[in-house]
Amino acid sequence: MMNSLKPLQQRIDTFLATFISQYPECKLQQAVSYSLLAGGKRIRPILVYLTGQIFNCPLSKLDEPAAAIEAIHTYSLIHDDLPAMDNDDLRRGKPTCHIQFGEAEAILAGDALQSLAFTLLSESQLIDNQSKINLIMELSKASGLAGMCLGQSLDLQAEHQTISLEQLQQIHCYKTGALIKSAIRLGAITSGDVAKPYYHALDNYAQAIGLAFQIQDDILDITGEQAIMGKPQGSDIMHEKSTYPALIGLDNAIKMTQQLYQQAIASLEQIPYNSRSLRDLASYIINRNS
Ligand code: IPE
Ligand code: IPE
Ligand code: MG
Ligand code: MG
Ligand code: MG
Repeated sequence: MMNSLKPLQQRIDTFLATFISQYPECKLQQAVSYSLLAGGKRIRPILVYLTGQIFNCPLSKLDEPAAAIEAIHTYSLIHDDLPAMDNDDLRRGKPTCHIQFGEAEAILAGDALQSLAFTLLSESQLIDNQSKINLIMELSKASGLAGMCLGQSLDLQAEHQTISLEQLQQIHCYKTGALIKSAIRLGAITSGDVAKPYYHALDNYAQAIGLAFQIQDDILDITGEQAIMGKPQGSDIMHEKSTYPALIGLDNAIKMTQQLYQQAIASLEQIPYNSRSLRDLASYIINRNS
């Protein structure tokens, strides 16, 4: 993780730990805490914070939206790892939720995290009611039938198949791009009217880094080190997943991430504020090793 991002990573870690500790301890609370506090990179909450910071939004106002998107993301990972989906046994450097707590509890932990996201958004003391509704609308759409869940369904349908590049791009945009775009939108919505003229430019940036993020994930599934990634290497090949390296080869996949980086920074040039942190994050996304 880039050093400059560590304070934000720490901020969301602390906020999530405090939030989850308010719930009475029970098996389900343990399963939720186990996965949520296992130490992910926190890219999506960091995107919420960085986008808000561009428009001078106080970090304290961004805590709940940042935590909400991480709750949805962690839920998506727990379910993604289930035997019925990718059937993986390692996540964030630890046994996956279903290995540790059993399949039923892992399903419920995902369900609970999904609803906690909307508890967080609706409970915020600093965000006005209209913005809360806009945030809830944004995150619910990005997560569901026209967003992440749809992408996950298409991803599973594309196992053991050769699909077109266009179809693969669609899958990646839904399963991963939707939540990344949503993170940036949550930051922009929370910032208020000042960010409104730049929604389009921010969406274009998000589109590019969202796709680049999943292509890099596909690349790391082949070239990465399990100990650094904290999740299994070779999972995609084992499950005959449709991925960018599988379809166009590793070198072309790497080239695509570089093109997408250029697209991302070109979109930032449309925004007359200091967006250097988002440019650095785009660079991190295509160069990361975990
Ligand atoms: C992994 O996401 C799943 C994808 C959408 C590619 P991350 O790489 O952000 O995982 P964590 O949150 O750091 O564990
Ligand atoms: C998952 O993509 C995207 C999600 C919505 C969770 P992957 O299945 O490639 O993610 P990893 O590699 O298991 O983290
Ligand atoms: Mg998957
Ligand atoms: Mg997976
Ligand atoms: Mg993967």
